[in-house]
Order: sequence, then structure tokens, then C-alpha cells
Amino acid sequence: MIPARRLLPRTITAQITALVVTAVLLAVGLTTLVLITIFDLNGRGSPEVLAVTRAARIAMLVKEELSPRSQEERALVMAAARWFGIEVERLPLSGLDSDPAAGTNPFVKSIKTILRDSWGIEALADRAPPGRPDAIAVPINGEEALIFQAAHRFSRNFIVLPTIFAVGAIIVITVFLSIYALRWITSPLSSIAAAARSFGRTTAKEEALSENGPREIAQVAEALNDMRKRVRTLVDERTRMLAAISHDLRTPLTRLRLRAERMDDAKTRDGMLQDITTINDMIGETLTYLRDNGRSEPVHLVDLPSMIQTICDEFGDVGFPVAYEGPGRHPFACRAHALTRAITNVIDNGTKHGPGVFVVLSPQPRGAVRIDISDNGPGIPEPLREKVFEPFFKGNSARPSSERGGFGLGLSIARDIVRNHGGDIRLLDHEPRGLTVRLTLPRQAETSLNIT
Ligand SMILES: Nc1ncnc2c1ncn2[C@@H]1O[C@H](COP(=O)(O)OP(=O)(O)O)[C@@H](O)[C@H]1O
Ligand SMILES: [Mg+2]
Repeated sequence: MIPARRLLPRTITAQITALVVTAVLLAVGLTTLVLITIFDLNGRGSPEVLAVTRAARIAMLVKEELSPRSQEERALVMAAARWFGIEVERLPLSGLDSDPAAGTNPFVKSIKTILRDSWGIEALADRAPPGRPDAIAVPINGEEALIFQAAHRFSRNFIVLPTIFAVGAIIVITVFLSIYALRWITSPLSSIAAAARSFGRTTAKEEALSENGPREIAQVAEALNDMRKRVRTLVDERTRMLAAISHDLRTPLTRLRLRAERMDDAKTRDGMLQDITTINDMIGETLTYLRDNGRSEPVHLVDLPSMIQTICDEFGDVGFPVAYEGPGRHPFACRAHALTRAITNVIDNGTKHGPGVFVVLSPQPRGAVRIDISDNGPGIPEPLREKVFEPFFKGNSARPSSERGGFGLGLSIARDIVRNHGGDIRLLDHEPRGLTVRLTLPRQAETSLNIT
């Protein structure tokens, strides 16, 4: 069975609209019930009273029919009677059966009696239209009879149609009004959600959320603005501190190098110098990572293929051929230096793990682009695919780390940069073997025009 909760609408607008519609339906239903009870619209009075009323109605219509009015006027009266729910029709006498069951119903019998006694109208005693023994037939001239249905039902025209119309109108109006009102309430919520999602992830300048709208929502926006400011300050402070420490480490490290160089024992000296170089590189990479990864770089329009081609050529120059495939020209707004670093990091990994690297640029709908960087190396197993993006994470590299080893920051930096462009980076299997690193970048709003 589907849990009831699953049937509930998900958005606030849908939920409240459903609530309002249910409330309106309940209210209208209850009101109708009360009206029916008060006015006894179904005529659930005593049978005697009912019989008298029916008889009076029949008598009036018969009198009308017998009056010296024109044919058209009489037809109009009949139509009006039908409209109010009195079922009456005109049939030739020859169309009536003599039916032994006719008039056996006590209610029909009493109406016929009243018609005779009070109104002097003689209904046919034992004749009725075929299959309708409870009909009352009153002959009006030698050839025809008026046929009445004994039970009076309220005409659908009279009750149902106006009710449907009124309820329908109420529902349409409430639905439209509530959708309009709820849009007004919920649209700030959607923009809050969007702002929270894009926090720290776009090239666009982050604007404070508008603190308009209903008070509760304005409070949420205010709190979020406040939190955003605090997070930003906190991150900036930490980053500055780490960068300062890393930077300051370099001075004593340089002194250490000078001292080591003056050592006599060649073996110890070379070992120390090697270590010092490693520490120095590590500090260098950490500083690169801690730099704002292009956050402050302006967004320029560049020709993406030539940018990628340049990177490929640089790898080719040092003996790692990298193939580019894609359009020859494709202007794209981005932070060129940062993006170059991201792509370089990913290609660098490819050259470390596989014999060949291919870069495929494919333009996407709405001005986005996709850059697939593939190699034929061992690939990265599924469970490690999130881990490799963590700073300082190094997997079991195919080659010993001393050869061209990094410090596990390459992918972290690449992802940071891509996310700062509002995009994302994903790791996919490359067929038949190897890894494809897929960078997707949405269209950027450029901060300045500068075609290179
Ligand atoms: N193309 C690749 N094929 C196989 N493994 C890879 C590839 N790229 C990255 N990795 C794995 O992800 C880890 C993290 O990569 P990265 O952040 O660039 O750090 P580093 O290159 O300094 O080790 C690498 O140590 C390696 O194990
Ligand atoms: Mg790397």
C-alpha cells in the first residue's frame, strides 16, 4: 500500500492549495446539508402533506392545460413546470396500457383521491404508460392525457447545476488566489535555497539576499546573510593564517639549506638537501592551494580551444604528447589562469598514470562546455573516487612518488577552481581502460570583455 504521506503534495503551494480546496469543499458540503435540513428540500414531510401538495400541483397544471390559452402559452407553462422538477408529459390515450398494477401504490391512490375530492379532477384508475404503474394519467380532451410522475424529485437544473457552478467558481477563485499568494510567500524561499546552494561556487559576485517578503522569511534571509558573512570571515582568516605560516616557514628553511650545504659528510648532506627540497615543494603547493584559486581573478572571454591547445603543447614539449579534439574556436568566459591550472593538474595526472592523454571539448546547450580528459592508465576504483579530491590524498600511484610525485593537491585544486566557476568535476570509467575526468562548466557572466 502506498503510505498516505506519499500522496501528499510536496511543495508548500500545492499543500496549502489542497488544504484550501478541501476546506472550501467541506464548508460548501456542510452548508448544503444544513440548507437541506432546514428547508427540507427533499420534501421529506409527512405523506399526507406531500400527497396534498402533489395533488395541488397536478390540479394547477391540468387547469392551465384546460384553460383557453394559446398552444404556445400552454407549452411554456409545461416547460416551466418541468424546469422546476415536475415530471409531466402529454401522451395520446391510445399509448396507455391498462395496467392492473396502476394505482395500487397507496401514495398514488391518495393523490388520486385528493384530486377527485378536492379538485374535481378524475385521473384514470387503472391505466398508465407501459412500465410506469405509478404514473398518474389525467385525460384532458378526448384523445390525450397529461402524465405525472407521483414522486416529485428536485430537478437537477434547480439544485445540482447551480451548486456545481457555485462550488466550481469558488474553487477556481481560491486556487488562483492561493497560488498567487503562495508564490509571493514562497518565491523568496526558492531564492534563499538557490543562494545557499551557490554559496562559494560561482564566479558571479555574491549578493546579499533580499530581506523582503513575509517576516519569517525575511528573518531566514537575514540569518543566512549573517551566516554567510561569518563563514566567509572564518575561512578567510584560516586561509590567511595558514598561508602566513607556510610562507614564514620558508625563511628558516632557506637558512637550513645554507647550513646543510656547508656540511662535510656528503651522504648526510645530500639526504638533508633532498628533504629540504621536498619540504619546500610541499610549502609551494600548499600555498598554491591556499591561494584563492582564482576567486579574485576577473572573468574574461577567451578562446577555449586555443587555451587547451597551449596546455597540450606544453606537455608535448616535455615529452608527454596530449591530443586535443573539439572545435577550432569557441569563445568562453572564464577565469583563464585558474582554469588553465585546473586542466593542467588533471592532464598532469593522466600523463603520470597512462601512456597517452586525450582532451575532448564539447559545447553544451545554454552556453555550457564539457571537457573530458581521458587516459589509458589503471583508472581509479569507485570507492576512491571521492577520496582523491581530498587535499593531500595520494593513492597508490603507478609510479614511485619520487619520480614526479605530487602532494595529493592536484585534484583538490582542480575541483575548487571548477566549482568556483559554478561547474563540477566527475570521474568516469574510460573504455576499454583508464580514467575520464569530466569537467562541466556553465556559461559565465563575464566581468569584463577581453578576447585573447
Ligand atoms: N588519471 C589517473 N589515473 C589513476 N589514478 C589517478 C589519476 N589521477 C589521479 N589519480 C589518483 O588520485 C590521487 C590524487 O591525485 P592528485 O590530487 O592529482 O594528487 P597527486 O597527483 O599529487 O598524487 C593520485 O595520487 C592518484 O592515486
Ligand atoms: Mg596530481
